[in-house]
Amino acid sequence: MNSSPRVVFCATHTQAEPWLEVLRAQLPGFTVDAWHADHAADPAAEHTADYAVVWAPPQAFIDQVATSERLKAVFNLGAGVDALVSLRWPSLKGAPPVPLIRLDDAGMGTQMAEYVCQAVTRHVRELDVVEAQSRQGQWAFRKPRLRADFPVGVLGLGVLGQRVALALRSFEYTVHGWSRSAKQIEGVTTYGGMDALEPMLSKCRILVNLLPLTDQTQDLLNKQRLSKLMPGGYVINVARGAHVVDEDLVALLDSGHLAGAMLDVFRQEPLPADHAFWKHPKIVVTPHTSSRTLRNESLAQIAQKILRLEHGADVRSLPGLVDRSRGY
Ligand code: NAP
Ligand code: GLV
Repeated sequence: MNSSPRVVFCATHTQAEPWLEVLRAQLPGFTVDAWHADHAADPAAEHTADYAVVWAPPQAFIDQVATSERLKAVFNLGAGVDALVSLRWPSLKGAPPVPLIRLDDAGMGTQMAEYVCQAVTRHVRELDVVEAQSRQGQWAFRKPRLRADFPVGVLGLGVLGQRVALALRSFEYTVHGWSRSAKQIEGVTTYGGMDALEPMLSKCRILVNLLPLTDQTQDLLNKQRLSKLMPGGYVINVARGAHVVDEDLVALLDSGHLAGAMLDVFRQEPLPADHAFWKHPKIVVTPHTSSRTLRNESLAQIAQKILRLEHGADVRSLPGLVDRSRGY
């Protein structure tokens, strides 16, 4: 019988082999293999593991792998865990469900800062107009717009929100940031809790959403709240589609209260071909690409955490441990 620790990999819509190769190199002496739905019916297949590395696993995976007491932790190949926590998790003999650990930056922060800064720059500098004019062969100047007229609000001041807030500061934007608990970030005016949200929105012309999707944050960006943005507001959603009420966003763009939106995430992905966002002249759609999971960085982070656990570390000491009661 093989007594080496076993890691099982399950990532929907992903070719497993390149990931397994990197994990095996990072975890010598471990057995690392992929979970397949057809293993469920195979009595010879190994159904238990010490660790799972997952992205959007099906319920069948949880039902099979997380019902074993052998499983010590599940590592999510992303920062957001909304899909993962919404699955049914068994609790064995009254013990809390297995710990979930999400990516803690792992190369996402810089990508997110790049994406948000390009979205803000493109809007403030009117680079969309400049590009359209240049395609017409027009050498035409735009009247300079002042950064001071475009204060930016960042919703969510976690790993990614803080990185983005600081990047915007480095371009000398006025930055406001909102989170659940109060924060102190140099150069950023911070706000904590629901009562502070609307006062904060009223001070911003550009809004960046970097919240996790939870029961508290779903549909947060509705007509009432988005109307609080300064006239000519611009919305950058890089968190989850279900934070924004789609029809309310479109209504505020059509009424002229909002000048535009750059959207990377959607309630349904891929965004359906007939969705109004695709053709709206004030909306730019990108295909959930603002911050990609980088294979080497992410698996190096996960492997390091697995090794720490194998050497006796308390799972609560690991950055990225999900608090299931908060949902992130
Ligand atoms: P994080 O470190 O957990 O930060 C979450 C932040 O949101 C924290 O500051 C938290 O407040 C705040 N928050 C949570 N619930 C709140 C509430 N009800 N009211 C006010 N603030 C609340 O997460 P992260 O790593 O920065 O990632 C953020 C999200 O980005 C992910 O959940 C994911 O959905 C999204 N994401 C998108 C992409 C993409 O490619 N589009 C890539 C990666 C991640 P506290 O600090 O007080 O806890
Ligand atoms: C991507 O959206 C992530 O949550 O990592």
